[in-house]
Amino acid sequence: MKVVHTIKDLQAELADKKNIVLVPTMGNLHDGHLQLMKTAGAHGDTVVASVFVNRLQFGPNEDFDQYPRTLEEDCAKLEAQGVVDIVFAPSEKDMYPEPQVFTVQPDPKLADILEGFYRPGFFTGVATVVMKLFSIVRPNKAAFGKKDYQQLRIIQKMVEQFGMPIEIIPVELQRNQQTGLALSSRNRYLNDKELEEATLLYRTVKGVKEALEAGSSDADALEEKAMETLRQNGWQPDYVAVVRRKDLLAPTKDDLLTREPLVVLAAAKIGTTRLIDNIEVF
Ligand code: PAJ
Repeated sequence: MKVVHTIKDLQAELADKKNIVLVPTMGNLHDGHLQLMKTAGAHGDTVVASVFVNRLQFGPNEDFDQYPRTLEEDCAKLEAQGVVDIVFAPSEKDMYPEPQVFTVQPDPKLADILEGFYRPGFFTGVATVVMKLFSIVRPNKAAFGKKDYQQLRIIQKMVEQFGMPIEIIPVELQRNQQTGLALSSRNRYLNDKELEEATLLYRTVKGVKEALEAGSSDADALEEKAMETLRQNGWQPDYVAVVRRKDLLAPTKDDLLTREPLVVLAAAKIGTTRLIDNIEVF
């Protein structure tokens, strides 16, 4: 496994490579990320993992400075796993030698709701860095986790709308096998007590899924009840939302009757840590 830090070195490494699969990350890798690498390995010949904490996607009051940067440990994990061929860990100067004045503005219908509503500019930052990584790496395929469901949809739409010849590979959300807690780099902000309590987010979205699958047809009431459960347990929920998988819009009554594929998306703060989770329905 090679670790490269500049665009020039990366492109020299990739010059004779075929069937390249890119896995973009912000590092501090956990088993969720490793599952992406494994899936990427099964889909191509050369796996490139990028590790870059992208300033553009953090709001002014978010955790950009605090975000864990653990490149050495990350590389050790990837080396041990043996799937990744090249780690691309550019410096900020390499990715953004000057302020990025051209940006990718995703459709507000997809990007200003849910996560985008609570994190203004977030998906512009994500789409811009992913577009930039795509044009630097020029992969044939790229893997994204369903943990960030809205992000995955936006990237899929971006590739479709710009006619980019890149196949997007969705990867299932990975959870702690005992507790169900969705694996996340931000879990490391949680203390022991919060770590235990954090599983309520999963249990809550799962409860909504089960109610819908049992035939409940009042998604609004289920969302409100879920938010209330979180509040009563000391959380500050931003949203619990039942939406259609295809366009992230609220389902109609008919959608519920015909079992249109849905997903329950949730975001909530426990203490000072904001977590997201989701679960597919039907
Ligand atoms: P990051 O949060 O590091 O996540 C990198 C990739 O890992 C994303 O595709 C994310 O969905 C996936 N991932 C994280 N936790 C997961 C889990 N528990 N199960 C499955 N997949 C998981 O997402 C980003 O970085 C950034 O926004 C990025 C796309 C790299 C752009 O900066």
